[in-house]
Amino acid sequence: MDEPFQILVVDDEPNIRQGLAKGLAREAGHIELAGTAEEALALFDDGDFQLVITDVRLPGQLDGLELVSRIQERKPETTLIVITAHGTVETAVEAMRRGAFDFITKPIDLNLIRQQVGKAATHHRLQAENRLLRDRLAEAEELSGIIGNCSALKDVLLQIRQVSDTDATVLIRGESGTGKELIARAIHDLSKRSSGPFVAVNLGAMPESLLESELFGHEKGSFTGATRQKPGCFEQACRGTLFLDEVTEMPAKSQVDLLRVLETGQFKRVGGEESLDSDARIVSATNRDITQMIDEGTFREDLFYRLNIVPIEVPPLRQRREDIPLLADHFLQHFCQRHHRPMKMLTPDAVAGLVSANWPGNIRQLRNVMERLVVTVSNETITADALPADLAPNAKVHVARIPPLAEVTEQAEKEAIQAALAVNDFHREQTARCLGISVRTLHYKMSRYGLH
Ligand SMILES: Nc1ncnc2c1ncn2[C@@H]1O[C@H](COP(=O)(O)OP(=O)(O)OP(=O)(O)O)[C@@H](O)[C@H]1O
Ligand SMILES: [Mg+2]
Repeated sequence: MDEPFQILVVDDEPNIRQGLAKGLAREAGHIELAGTAEEALALFDDGDFQLVITDVRLPGQLDGLELVSRIQERKPETTLIVITAHGTVETAVEAMRRGAFDFITKPIDLNLIRQQVGKAATHHRLQAENRLLRDRLAEAEELSGIIGNCSALKDVLLQIRQVSDTDATVLIRGESGTGKELIARAIHDLSKRSSGPFVAVNLGAMPESLLESELFGHEKGSFTGATRQKPGCFEQACRGTLFLDEVTEMPAKSQVDLLRVLETGQFKRVGGEESLDSDARIVSATNRDITQMIDEGTFREDLFYRLNIVPIEVPPLRQRREDIPLLADHFLQHFCQRHHRPMKMLTPDAVAGLVSANWPGNIRQLRNVMERLVVTVSNETITADALPADLAPNAKVHVARIPPLAEVTEQAEKEAIQAALAVNDFHREQTARCLGISVRTLHYKMSRYGLH
């Protein structure tokens, strides 16, 4: 049930006011009554009303429509319902235009108005929740510093927002340096666990012999060197978030152990008897092709399903080039400050060079390049000449990414058609003959590749 509303009822007829007050007693937490708009505004300013129900015709200087406007100005999140005796469409439209949520016509049907108040309460709550989410997102963007405007990243941000309020496991997949850890932190920062710890453990960097104790902790004397009891990551992340980085690098034995914790919600310290409850939200990440690893049998499929309740795919930087200028500028400012350099600027050709580079190391590589430029370029402006030579587009395209065959053939086909059209002066029949295809096929392919 929604929280009870504070309702302000405005009508010049006392029996209508009283009737509404009685009729809505169950829906409202508190009701106050006013006979004029002026009186209503005074009460409104003193109180904390979420819903105002007002008649249109009022005896004072201000009418109900004017009251709607004034309340909208003061507190736009207030839900307003207008009562109209005349039931004219114009009045209703005008009330809605001024921000009213709904209108009702006299004579008042109490059942109907109860329904409308219920609807208004739901609407009000949704609005409040959305506002909170938006604030928290803006804050998280600030907090975690996720920069980017492209639609792919906006999708990721939306997913972050959607999952943050749940305890569902999240598996973040993306190439090295795409921001997976940053995203894991943002999920934590936005969640109700944000006041708890964020514990990150890199499973790729951990020798197998230490992994179990690292994750689950150990009791004193459980093995040589265990001189005291030590809590593991699961315990440290209690009421917080546990980030399992490079989760695919776990040896088979640890995969079984982790699966058991996810299934039972319990674990034991190494050498311990007591079963402990796990209260850590699990976010994991990998830059490997996890489905291939499952096919090959190096990663457990059942574990994958447990970890992958919500998948988040982070696109590589070359698929969100529109964000490169923004990111470059962000890192430029950041490193000029950090290295106490006067603020530098990128010339347009330098920006173009950055945008067209391949970035196999993604945002981490861009960040490193910008730091190097801040340190090595003494001029105030950074030109394209200053960019590292290996950034030139296609310099490393074969290492960076092997395109799917279909993409290669399509590109070659497009170029061949372009060339044939140019040689044949855009004469369709000749071009088709030259390419050994029908005119129909040529037309189809031209429209497909946008060649006109
Ligand atoms: N959208 C972004 N806005 C600003 N900085 C970013 C963004 N994405 C990543 N970064 C920065 O780029 C660097 C690499 O990010 P991060 O460590 O999160 O990548 P990763 O995907 O975990 O890489 P790896 O797979 O190598 O562990 C960090 O310094 C991070 O702060
Ligand atoms: Mg990482």
